[in-house]
Amino acid sequence: MNAGIKVFAPATIANLAVGYDILGLALESPGDEIIAKISNDFTGVRISNIRNDGGKLPKAAQKNTASVAGQAVLDHLNITDIGIELEIIKKMPIGSGLGSSAASAVGGAFAVNEILKSPLTKAELLPFCVQGEYIADGSYHADNVAPSLLGGIILVKNGENLIHQRLPTPEGLFITIIHPDIEILTKNARSIIKSSISLNSHIDQSFNLAGFVSSLYQSNFDLMRQCLNDIIIEPQRAHLIPKFEEVKAAALKNNAIGCSISGAGPSIFALSENSFDAENIAYAMKEVFKNVKIESTVIVSRVNPEGAYRF
Ligand code: HSE
Repeated sequence: MNAGIKVFAPATIANLAVGYDILGLALESPGDEIIAKISNDFTGVRISNIRNDGGKLPKAAQKNTASVAGQAVLDHLNITDIGIELEIIKKMPIGSGLGSSAASAVGGAFAVNEILKSPLTKAELLPFCVQGEYIADGSYHADNVAPSLLGGIILVKNGENLIHQRLPTPEGLFITIIHPDIEILTKNARSIIKSSISLNSHIDQSFNLAGFVSSLYQSNFDLMRQCLNDIIIEPQRAHLIPKFEEVKAAALKNNAIGCSISGAGPSIFALSENSFDAENIAYAMKEVFKNVKIESTVIVSRVNPEGAYRF
């Protein structure tokens, strides 16, 4: 048995209003910490312990996103004679819309690769992280795992090739997140999305996505303000989050560039041009939930450029 290694995989905001299932960014914190150790008692990847999950997460190796992703790395490398145990230290809320299962999947794959002395690059780990994430909600989407692994703002196409592209982060960009103390299962929030949209919606949302991506390249916050708008998914999910419209209105009133649902919710995010606006938005959002006696947690963060790391 060796002393082991420890890694961090950050929380993420998926969709970013304009890129359902194809766009996400990494936060500086919170995230998951994972400790990996070699074990001589078994082969394969197992979960030895999970801290701070309130008993909610499965420890069975085939059901936990961290061990499934880690095992997928071992399988890919054809390693059958090594045992690796993972301890997950949850430092972020579960079912929050902040990519909790993705952070565990990334942490698991990254920790296994690190303890094996990094035979794979980070980008090569991406498919195994997606496999881990699949266990959590039964669908393949890489918009949380890609930024958690690679950092930054990432455009990623689901499917066999997982084509991904890092987009620039404008100087000054801040993110405010509010997490009301309710839980939404991603599986449920996905099941209510209609499978077709009108041509007009497609045209408008295509403009929003293209304009947002363009605004990142130009650091053009005015263009971003015009484009950071979800006319397809947000209207279908907003009713799942109490006081969503009021929280969004409070953010926009306090100079948010835009505001929408983080991933499948219930967390809500707002982008802003500086930390001053970001803090004001945090306060205003929290007041809305406080007035209706819903506990909430706010986070103010920049984009994390690095993604998962060993420490
Ligand atoms: N793109 C996914 C969704 C992210 O919105 O369902 C889930 O975390």
